[in-house]
Amino acid sequence: MKKYNVFLFSILIMMLYSCLAILLFISCKSAEKNSSVVEKSTEVKATLIRQPYLQIVRSNTVTITWKTDVNAKNCHVRFSRARDRKGRIVQGTLVQHEGNSFNEVVINNLEPNTKYQYQIYTNGHPLTQGVGYYFITATNTKNAAFSFYALGDIGAKQNQSFAKASANTIHNLTEKPDFGLGLGDIVYPKGESKNYDMHLFEPFQEVFKNTPFYPVAGNHDWLTAPDLNFEKEWSLPGNEHYYSFAYANAFFIGLDSRDGTFYEIEKQTTWLKNELQKAKGKYDWIIVYLHHNGKTCTYKKDYEHVIALYEIFAKNDVDLVLNGHAHTFERLKPYDANGTVDASRKNQNTYTSADLRDKFISITLGAGGKLNKKWKPNPENDSNCNDGTIVAHFEHVPSFGLFKIANKTLTFQGINSLTGTTFDTFTIQKE
Ligand SMILES: [Fe+2]
Repeated sequence: MKKYNVFLFSILIMMLYSCLAILLFISCKSAEKNSSVVEKSTEVKATLIRQPYLQIVRSNTVTITWKTDVNAKNCHVRFSRARDRKGRIVQGTLVQHEGNSFNEVVINNLEPNTKYQYQIYTNGHPLTQGVGYYFITATNTKNAAFSFYALGDIGAKQNQSFAKASANTIHNLTEKPDFGLGLGDIVYPKGESKNYDMHLFEPFQEVFKNTPFYPVAGNHDWLTAPDLNFEKEWSLPGNEHYYSFAYANAFFIGLDSRDGTFYEIEKQTTWLKNELQKAKGKYDWIIVYLHHNGKTCTYKKDYEHVIALYEIFAKNDVDLVLNGHAHTFERLKPYDANGTVDASRKNQNTYTSADLRDKFISITLGAGGKLNKKWKPNPENDSNCNDGTIVAHFEHVPSFGLFKIANKTLTFQGINSLTGTTFDTFTIQKE
């Protein structure tokens, strides 16, 4: 009886091993098949029209998009951590737009704060190669230091825009920013999809391939239907017009001010209030960005719908409001809900939490690609300027802003796009 049991047990073990071997064989075969489908394609090679750019980079996900001609039949990304030799492959989707194909791959299940090299493939053919093609997932540590750049009014015809200079200076920064904010009027003259490549993606390709960019629409982007242009070019959170995201201990809110009258104004204002309510007490920094200015001493008028939001900003712990629109640089003194400043205060370079209690700092960064050459700033004697004492610093040069946040300290630099020099700086130190 005992011998019989041993015999049965041996048969059982043998059967189990055989099943395992068959399963292993099948899974190897199917993995091989998958990889041959995507990387040994016999399809014709598609032409790369736009270099890859990063969107929605979070601690565990990234979206990589590139544009090819319509020969694209399938696409994928191969990526790996810098030290790993083994890569992962994720298949993407294709969307046709204006006679070309957007190739888009969403990668999930990533490690936070980790650098990955990537390579894009269309029809199984690699279209890029090089150390510049990488992404770094967002940190999920609240007190991690990070930085971002911001600029508006960027992409015009190449002989009418210094977008390339702004992009080069950003690309050559010693500390690479974690992401960028686009403050509207992203592409001139009318935000048309057909101009995105020449006016924006070509000059910014070295930046966008490894640093995500989060734009909001400006009045020029609204001169053609955003749902057929702006929304096709970007993958942004929410409805892509107004959206928010968190990074370390900071909360970012992008608004769509359209032509100054705001897109879905009532819905958007309610949404803004809700976002600020949800963020209250959870973050050390709250940063709002949009295209139009409120009070200003540039050549643009004061936009009443932006001024109408001052009370919401001031009473809900907003620290900074960044905008474009005027093609110049202007930093204002901390405002209260009425847009009133402490004009007697001399020091406008260092602020504490007490200095910003129920106040915020508004900055125009609208010289990202254009400068108004017909106008000279003069806050003391400008017909557009109701009160020159609101201005902390102005500088009429091609420029962008660089913001560094390290826990409770925020440092700002206004940087000249042509020379790379810092022309304005301030620090906010919170307790
Ligand atoms: Fe504008």
